[in-house]
Amino acid sequence: MGGFGGTKRDSFPYTGKVRPGVQSPKRQIPSSIVKPDYADDGRPKARGPVLPWQVEVKSAKDIEGMRVAGRIAREVLDAAGRMVAPGVTTDAIDALVTEESIKRGAYPSPLNYHNFPKSCCTSVNEVICHGIPDSSVLKDGDVVNIDITCYYGGYHGDCSEMFLVGEVDEAGKQLVKVTHDCWQAAMDYCAPGKPFSGIGAVIEDYIKPYGYQSVREFCGHGIGKVFHTNPNILHYRNNEPGKMEVGNVFTIEPMICEGTFRHIMWNDAWTATTKDGRRSAQFEHTLLVTPTGVEPFTARLPTSNPFFWEADDYVEPAAAIASAKPPSRPAAPSKPPASDKGFSAASASAAKKKAAVAKKATSKKKKR
Ligand code: MF3
Ligand code: CO
Ligand code: CO
Repeated sequence: MGGFGGTKRDSFPYTGKVRPGVQSPKRQIPSSIVKPDYADDGRPKARGPVLPWQVEVKSAKDIEGMRVAGRIAREVLDAAGRMVAPGVTTDAIDALVTEESIKRGAYPSPLNYHNFPKSCCTSVNEVICHGIPDSSVLKDGDVVNIDITCYYGGYHGDCSEMFLVGEVDEAGKQLVKVTHDCWQAAMDYCAPGKPFSGIGAVIEDYIKPYGYQSVREFCGHGIGKVFHTNPNILHYRNNEPGKMEVGNVFTIEPMICEGTFRHIMWNDAWTATTKDGRRSAQFEHTLLVTPTGVEPFTARLPTSNPFFWEADDYVEPAAAIASAKPPSRPAAPSKPPASDKGFSAASASAAKKKAAVAKKATSKKKKR
């Protein structure tokens, strides 16, 4: 990434090369679009079930509505992915996401969700999740996750994919493919009666041979009329209670790291990057539990952007790249942030504000 923002004096202990850029003015959504309850003041009001082990069973009407919302999110994600190229700003992607959502009568769910400033998340290289679109420019060799959620007909549909910018090195490609494949394995595991906790075990077992780590601080989530609700879907081995039932709807969205799963939060209180500056990848679907498995509401279409390994001339590398030891790389910043939550102690009030945002157990921050 590059862009104007990087030239500002900024003493934050960034862990890699990605820097915040300049954000464009807030995008306006026409009044004809039905908005979620947080669109004006940033605060979601509708809640799902109160007790963490209660997971909603969707009605036939909910399911039909969510299928439509999921399909819209998919179309918008595909359109966003087609823009990915060296020289494109993440803000330009966000502009298209806003326009394509509106075109379909949908509200881009991230916009003003707990005051998130943009319509989608663009997370480049060491950014784990919740990267904010801005003047930063995608550059040759980057990997970027675009995360799209659309609100339509009273329901949210949530999905994300990785995109390669120009030519990406083999280690980066392997990270993306293994992340995709562990996510697929987790979806294959799902069926009525299966414990939610098994999802994390499948993912951990899948990535282990590569030396990768799965992020613990952010998780998948129930979704429907509410953006983030029960259950929490942990992407690492866990003992959470609960079994899948036909009619449950939730996301699986593992964030897989080349190195440490630990993160550091930028001063914008959203952008989470790896603590060691190495890359992280993620894929996401919104899934309905059916009698035989899961149906992705955000399923890929025949027109979706092919993955790099689907190209006719793709040859799988002969040997896996073990990632446990980074190549040679400068040591971690000498001044780590004061708190383990990654909130640097910039100012007491700023830190307090950030803590308040983090506590809301919303932006799919794990509920504790
Ligand atoms: N789409 C993200 C998820 O997968 C959530 C983004 S919250 C936002 O759950 F506020 F950052 F948009
Ligand atoms: Co998402
Ligand atoms: Co999600």
